[in-house]
Amino acid sequence: MTSISLDSAASADLDVDAIVIGVTPGTEGASPGGHPLTGALDDALGGRLTAALTALGATGKAGEVTKLPTLGAVPAGVVVAVGLGDEPDEETLRRAAGAAVRGLAGTRRVLVALPAGTPAQTGAAALGALLGAYAFDGYRTGERTEPVAELVVAGDAGHADAVERARVLAASVALVRDLVNTPPSDLSPDDFATVAQRVAGENRLAIEVLDEKALVDGGYGGLIGVGQGSANPPCLIRLAYAHPDATRTLALVGKGITFDSGGLSLKPADSMDWMKSDMGGAAAVLGALAAIAKLGPAVNVVGYMAMAENMPSGTAQRPSDVLHLYGGKTVEVLNTDAEGRLVLADALVRAAEDSPDLIVDVATLTGAALVALGTRTTGVMANDDAVREGVVAAAGRAGEAAWGMPLPADLRKGLDSAVADLANISGERWGGMLTAGVFLKEFVPDGVKWAHLDIAGPAFHKGEPYGYTPKGGTGAAARTLVQVAEDLAAGSL
Ligand code: BES
Ligand code: MN
Ligand code: ZN
Repeated sequence: MTSISLDSAASADLDVDAIVIGVTPGTEGASPGGHPLTGALDDALGGRLTAALTALGATGKAGEVTKLPTLGAVPAGVVVAVGLGDEPDEETLRRAAGAAVRGLAGTRRVLVALPAGTPAQTGAAALGALLGAYAFDGYRTGERTEPVAELVVAGDAGHADAVERARVLAASVALVRDLVNTPPSDLSPDDFATVAQRVAGENRLAIEVLDEKALVDGGYGGLIGVGQGSANPPCLIRLAYAHPDATRTLALVGKGITFDSGGLSLKPADSMDWMKSDMGGAAAVLGALAAIAKLGPAVNVVGYMAMAENMPSGTAQRPSDVLHLYGGKTVEVLNTDAEGRLVLADALVRAAEDSPDLIVDVATLTGAALVALGTRTTGVMANDDAVREGVVAAAGRAGEAAWGMPLPADLRKGLDSAVADLANISGERWGGMLTAGVFLKEFVPDGVKWAHLDIAGPAFHKGEPYGYTPKGGTGAAARTLVQVAEDLAAGSL
């Protein structure tokens, strides 16, 4: 893991391999600046920094990366000028730092000298740089490009807390990304529980794991039904963070399908290869709890991770089977590929037993979420307008794209079953993300506030890297969940 330090006396003469600076659109093309160190660097380069950047075609457009050799003028061999656009916000700074550092894999020590006038700006530069330095290369043999070993952030000594927060959030996101990227052969529900045990131990969180037998005995028909086709048994993981001054309790619930083949309602090959990411919700819950334990907000947080592998086999559940879910409701399984809602339903009912003030579930739940919102935006649904708006706002402050979506009551009818309390898919063709939300709502007891995050789009990135986002697991929702916990602690949610 890349290390990070804050240096309030950092100069252009620092012994580093590269210096990252910001560039905004200027009259001559690019205008370097935003951090005092840029002026000293320009002096060292004979006052030719702007001219050199302009000659290289830099415009200052947000995210644009221009590399400039220093030819011995300073110890750093290269200056990486990253575009910030006009008046960058925190997320623009994060992405700029991420893009710059991502392009520096293979270098050892990097100085980040981006705008750092406030703790929030310094923290944004630090977080973006750390997230951009992430690499998942444990499965490569032979030559590999090492990620940047050491980041030095130029900023005020008073911003140390912001840098520490960035370090905690980056470690949390890296954990989520690692879990999503790990091949499903190496991450069964039991393997995930082993990681959760380690995280609990490191952060003094209480942990309880209901294994297959406990799930059968407890009547968790959703987890059992989905998991019964796999050689790897399901489990329900419960982690708990408690704060002595807490007056409120947040329950987090994550979908943890370690691989979603679709089951007997088998997926086509080209939609199956990325289904190792179908435990992204559970990973986000685990990552968020690790960060919450380190940041210490005055709120109690319980996290449920509903783990199963959805496989076709002679023991798999069949379309038309009826499951008895935890809490007593029956569900007719008409499509075994709509499995996430089945394991989540068990976990939602169980989570409500903790008397939480708010339940937030996170799930790579529907392909329809991608149709509606694209690959980068989380859909947020809730049984309370203020909660939905509060969660969307929390996501925005955390730097994650999220958009409020309705739970139209008329969609409930489509989930009627000929034989059971409800069916797991709808006869209605349109609005699949909302239908899934309407299904989940049936398992949230009256009077309990609840929000549902569909992260099917943002959890896994199939395209080329951008900003601080790599290919593969992105760590989506972990930062949002931390922000929600902090907002609940502060009473603003
Ligand atoms: N895990 C998938 C949803 C998904 C799709 C996540 C694409 C990420 C990318 C989920 O279990 C699923 O298969 N949903 C079905 C539901 C349908 C059968 C009602 C879907 O969206 O097609
Ligand atoms: Mn599925
Ligand atoms: Zn799934």
